[in-house]
Amino acid sequence: MTDSTAKLEFRGQTHEFKVRAGTVGPDVIDIASLYATTGAFTYDPGFTSTASCESEITFIDGDAGILLHRGYPIDQLAEHGDFLEVCYLLLYGELPTKAQKDDFDHRVTRHTMVHEQMSRFFTGFRRDAHPMAVMCGVVGALSAFYHDSTDISDPHQRMVASIRLIAKMPTIAAMAYKYHIGQPFVYPKNELNFAANFLHMCFAVPCEEYKVNPVLARAMERIFILHADHEQNASTSTVRLAGSSGANPFACIAAGIACLWGPAHGGANEAALNMLSEIGHVDRIPEFVARAKDKNDPFRLMGFGHRVYKNYDPRAKIMQKTTHEVLGELGIKDDPMLDVAMELERIALTDEYFIEKKLYPNIDFYSGITLKALGFPTTMFTVLFALARTVGWIAQWKEMIEDPRQKIGRPRQLYTGAAERDYLPIAKR
Ligand code: CMC
Repeated sequence: MTDSTAKLEFRGQTHEFKVRAGTVGPDVIDIASLYATTGAFTYDPGFTSTASCESEITFIDGDAGILLHRGYPIDQLAEHGDFLEVCYLLLYGELPTKAQKDDFDHRVTRHTMVHEQMSRFFTGFRRDAHPMAVMCGVVGALSAFYHDSTDISDPHQRMVASIRLIAKMPTIAAMAYKYHIGQPFVYPKNELNFAANFLHMCFAVPCEEYKVNPVLARAMERIFILHADHEQNASTSTVRLAGSSGANPFACIAAGIACLWGPAHGGANEAALNMLSEIGHVDRIPEFVARAKDKNDPFRLMGFGHRVYKNYDPRAKIMQKTTHEVLGELGIKDDPMLDVAMELERIALTDEYFIEKKLYPNIDFYSGITLKALGFPTTMFTVLFALARTVGWIAQWKEMIEDPRQKIGRPRQLYTGAAERDYLPIAKR
């Protein structure tokens, strides 16, 4: 871990920049002074080579297929941890002791209800609205209800807002679902754990007893853990950028939800399941694989490929195992979609195009089948991703606010538009 320098020859001059080494991962050339010393910007659309911040939360080695939260491998957390333990780890940096965990669970469960007035907010939406559209609106509206946790300069308020967001997201997500299907809202039940409470709010109805299946609750818990954080992806960077202006945390998380909705990001789980259903039968796989490889066809295999992973997404492995557990528990022996998925994965992993481009299944490839088996409609898939990712977003937001070097995010550009010219009156154009 030795820091060194990098030299840049530019217009006859040599400039030196500090090279910084992280704990693990690639070195970083610190070019913060580049513009001041050379008068030039860097150009990196899509940030493929740019570190936008320094962070201690999550590390990904995309070539090796490794994902660590605060140093702990994702498979160990998913196997042995529970979701609130992972939340604590992301927020505070260490796994909690028993006393810390009990205290944290208590603080989160005390905040699971939403202001009663918020339930009326939902009725302003059309019933057929996409639940992600509802989530963007309702989560953004939290800042209109919880004024006492919007002062970002107060560490106590920052933590209260963080806990509120983790605690209320399942309630809001379940309300969006219930509103969508025309059933009454079900209030949180604090004696249940995080995942079981969520399943209860989604699937219980007032007219009969609903017992949460512990195997399904554990699967839900694992899905939440797998989605909890993923370093500086598009939605997390959106949250950081929104937060860099001093916007309140509820507004920042709403911005993250909006970004996550896109099909290249969190919307891919919905798109992957729709694709599997469109393929319908293993016989049609070659046709779709050929389309994915055709440069003139915009079609892509959804649930394949990743900006960072150039190896099997470590989350996808755990997800695949969870899918089999859920289908086994529910006694679903023949799921045509699972057959299509397994065969598609087999073909893609042996096909030259996918091998050469290092396109492996990502987490979204199997999560859709599991969520469908759990009883969720496809429109809820990205909502569940948002629910789980909220802790990652808020941990990254807190880290940014608490970083003394934090500045408002303000990228530069390579301007290629018209140079200065004079206004022409309309009659002369
Ligand atoms: N199917 C077919 N070809 C693909 C695919 C795919 N799913 N993904 C990438 N390629 C090709 C692409 O056409 C390009 O080929 P060429 O070099 O010949 O132009 C090459 O692979 C590199 O692709 P890229 O678009 O430059 O790579 P990227 O890093 O910008 O995009 C991605 C990453 C995830 C947006 C992309 O792989 C994709 O669109 N995948 C499908 C959507 C998906 O599953 N998204 C979920 C990501 S995981 C969940 C999350 O973290 O949000």
